[in-house]
Amino acid sequence: MDVEDINTIAVLGAGNMGHGIAEVAALAGYEVNLRDIKEEFVQNGYEQIEWSLDKLAEKDQISEAEAESSLDRVTPLVDFEEAVSDADFVVEAVPEKMDIKKDVYGELEEYASDEAVFATNTSSLSITELSEVTERPERFCGMHFFNPPVRMQLVEVISGAHTDDEVLDLTEDLAEEMGKTPVRVRKDSPGFIVNRILVPLMNEAAWMVESGDYTIEEVDSATKFDMGLPMGSFELADQVGIDVGYHVLDYMHEVLGDAYEPCPLLAQKVEEEKLGKKTGEGFYDYEDGGAQIPT
Ligand code: 3HC
Repeated sequence: MDVEDINTIAVLGAGNMGHGIAEVAALAGYEVNLRDIKEEFVQNGYEQIEWSLDKLAEKDQISEAEAESSLDRVTPLVDFEEAVSDADFVVEAVPEKMDIKKDVYGELEEYASDEAVFATNTSSLSITELSEVTERPERFCGMHFFNPPVRMQLVEVISGAHTDDEVLDLTEDLAEEMGKTPVRVRKDSPGFIVNRILVPLMNEAAWMVESGDYTIEEVDSATKFDMGLPMGSFELADQVGIDVGYHVLDYMHEVLGDAYEPCPLLAQKVEEEKLGKKTGEGFYDYEDGGAQIPT
């Protein structure tokens, strides 16, 4: 299959990453089936796409017509078979738990066409292990977008142990069609390249606050204004979702060892369901203006 043969993309999971990926694919001209397990989840994802496209149009980054036609190309769905049966390429972006993802691949194998490529947007989990749940491990790879997908340029294209080189080439071509810059990740190791660096940074920031030596604002001020990162560490955790960072760390801890032990501060936020921007509160309160970081 060449990239020109891809017309319809199914995106499984309409959360932060799923709806963002669906938006990017629709903007690139693809027909997109956006699927989640509940009507309210898929509807919320669809509304987020609408919000984002309006925002881009407001800022003249795209035209009103482009915003409208992109939204028209997105079909929100709950029915699994309907979402995947005509898809040439499937991007899975369901929660970052091995069991949940494996269940989804079991169902996907049942309904997807034999030619379709499966790509997981996992932030950390083993591509090889996930691919082995399917009957097409050679047509399976990682396609890891960054949050927010519509703004972030990078896409990691990750090879599992069984992935065909042609599938990696195709996925890179698709990322380019979407206006992104793909980077090939040859080693299927926890967190791949970016999250192996970025998530421990968020964790270390949390340990510093947990120790009582620093405040959230002090750490964020230093990482943002002195180190020059676009967001403070806690601001970034709120952006990606504290639960996502926590699950990535939990997996890295299990596979790579104690250096990656998640800070209890993160576990506490997950327990309280204060997950960041998506729930209105995380380390900062977004109903109250969000991060106020001293310069
Ligand atoms: N669609 C459209 N507009 C959006 C948007 C979206 N999805 N998200 C934010 N915006 C809008 C905001 O509403 C705001 O609009 P306003 O100006 O009208 O209030 C505007 O964009 C924000 O833009 P700013 O000018 O204030 O900020 P910048 O343009 O300078 O940058 C950013 C925003 C690109 C998000 C930048 O802060 C950044 O790069 N942050 C770091 C993000 C990052 O590192 N992401 C990767 C995390 S790791 C990951 O995702 C992997 C995962 O597996 C864990």
